[in-house]
Amino acid sequence: MTGYSLSRFLEECGNAAADNEVPADTVLRLAVPMQRLLSVAADFLKPSHLRSDPSHYARNLVYAAEDGSLSLFALVWTPVHDHGSWGIVGVHEGVLEERAYMRVDADPLPDRNHGIALQRGGLVLLSPDSVTTFVPNPDHIHVTGVPEDRPRAVSLHLYGRMMDRFYAYDVAAGTRELIAAPHFES
Ligand SMILES: [Fe+2]
Repeated sequence: MTGYSLSRFLEECGNAAADNEVPADTVLRLAVPMQRLLSVAADFLKPSHLRSDPSHYARNLVYAAEDGSLSLFALVWTPVHDHGSWGIVGVHEGVLEERAYMRVDADPLPDRNHGIALQRGGLVLLSPDSVTTFVPNPDHIHVTGVPEDRPRAVSLHLYGRMMDRFYAYDVAAGTRELIAAPHFES
């Protein structure tokens, strides 16, 4: 969209964060702005935002609010994880595959790290300009990425906190572990 920019998007995000709405309203408010941001992503995404790591996923920091209330990343591949935050994902390049996992243990307490039963769910294929959102409690557990035999995908991920750690799941063992989430600064 002509005239839109990363700074205007971040201003809208900052206003939304300051209003402290429930996460479902925050993602409702910011989903269309994310799609506008995608339309100008080529203006601000630099090669440093598109780094990848073939042995793992790569997260490239685009923006972090000084007060820790927002973070925006360009991502290339991820493990099974949840977020502990609301989030908005927009696809910039390629087709991003998102595979859902549903938590089916009887007592899905947020602070329990064992005895977690995850069942594989469906998948969605997200084309350029697609936007998807999630909210926590219960958190959204998924694998996002592209299989090796397909062209890379680049997506923008906005979270309602500094995304410096999240839960990664071992589906077979029924456990999860809070891991530090490394990212490339640029
Ligand atoms: Fe995710």
